[in-house]
Amino acid sequence: MESKAKVKRVFKMKQSKNADGCLRIGIFSNGFCPMNGAKLPVVPVIDRDDEYGTRKAKDASFEKAILVTPANNSELCVIQPMRSLTVDEYAKAFKSFLDHSTEHQCMDQFNKKELPGIITSLGNGKSAINVLGVGSGTGEQDLKMIRIIQAMHPGTFIKNEVIEPNPQHILSYKDAVRNSFDLKNVSFTWHQLTSMEYEKQAKEQKIQKKYDFIHLIQMLYRVEDTASTIRFFHSCLDCYAKLLIIILSGNSGWASIWKKYRHCLPPTDSGHYITADDIEVVLKRMELTYQVYDFPSAWDITECFIDGDTTGGHTLDFLTGTKDFMNTAPQDLKQSLLQALRQPECSTKKDGRIIFRNDLSMIVVHS
Ligand SMILES: C[S@@+](CC[C@H](N)C(=O)[O-])C[C@H]1O[C@@H](n2cnc3c(N)ncnc32)[C@H](O)[C@@H]1O
Repeated sequence: MESKAKVKRVFKMKQSKNADGCLRIGIFSNGFCPMNGAKLPVVPVIDRDDEYGTRKAKDASFEKAILVTPANNSELCVIQPMRSLTVDEYAKAFKSFLDHSTEHQCMDQFNKKELPGIITSLGNGKSAINVLGVGSGTGEQDLKMIRIIQAMHPGTFIKNEVIEPNPQHILSYKDAVRNSFDLKNVSFTWHQLTSMEYEKQAKEQKIQKKYDFIHLIQMLYRVEDTASTIRFFHSCLDCYAKLLIIILSGNSGWASIWKKYRHCLPPTDSGHYITADDIEVVLKRMELTYQVYDFPSAWDITECFIDGDTTGGHTLDFLTGTKDFMNTAPQDLKQSLLQALRQPECSTKKDGRIIFRNDLSMIVVHS
């Protein structure tokens, strides 16, 4: 699908930095569903550390099945409660999402149409360009961007650093680098840390390294404090540098679903239901200059509506951050959510398929 981008908003501020105006926009589910007024059954409370290790154990200890007596009083049956996805389950659902969506193709469109223009002034003639990827995952997007930087700055050395807490992702990233024979003149340094741990370490060691290009791609949902994370990484920008944030658009189907159902879903590791609109509020408060590029992205969710379908199950799991949503969600919640997914603010119908609006916003913040 050919995406059409437009620069939607350009904001220029007189001051480039402002220390106050910190806004906490993350809200966690409280287990109360305003849709039907019901209190959810046992919901596991999971904190962010679970992203890389302890999650399974916590899930196991919090997970309790509910015993109910059936109408005929014959025997007790077990209802599995709704719970968040473990790291492995999330990875599976995420893969299914990538296979059925144009998420990466949408980023490719941005890379092709807009990124070259954005990075022309990086480094301002220095012999090396310092790049920092935050929450880079397996590095697929990072490597594409490094190639574009190389093409725009031929012969310039690139020092690429990565902050990524998931050790499996770092291993895959290293494999990808090993197999990228075209990547010359690039050094790689991996920090197996969360963004907050990196910030703490940098502050303790009293080193504030400056970078020419920092990117936070589809990861701000997972940080504890969005505003302070943006403020910190913006402060790491050198002169003529850019901070790129890629995040779901405020008019994506996700925003509509989150608005209505966030309180009906278990608290996920992506507990911050934030979109580009929220990020813009933060950037305006910080009085930073930025541009927003909106790119459409589509996700085929047709199988969600086929009861028992495996792909549909993964789709609903990723959409709701819930393990086996099809079978664990209360019937009225399931029906209501499926109905909402068909509404125009969430999806369109094309050739008999239901296509969810997975639109992304690419926000470029100036140093
Ligand atoms: C949805 S993936 C995005 C990966 C990659 N940027 C991309 O777009 O393909 C989110 C990544 O953020 C990482 N992550 C989660 N919490 C984080 C945190 N607090 N700080 C930095 N990275 C985090 C995850 O391990 C994961 O690799």
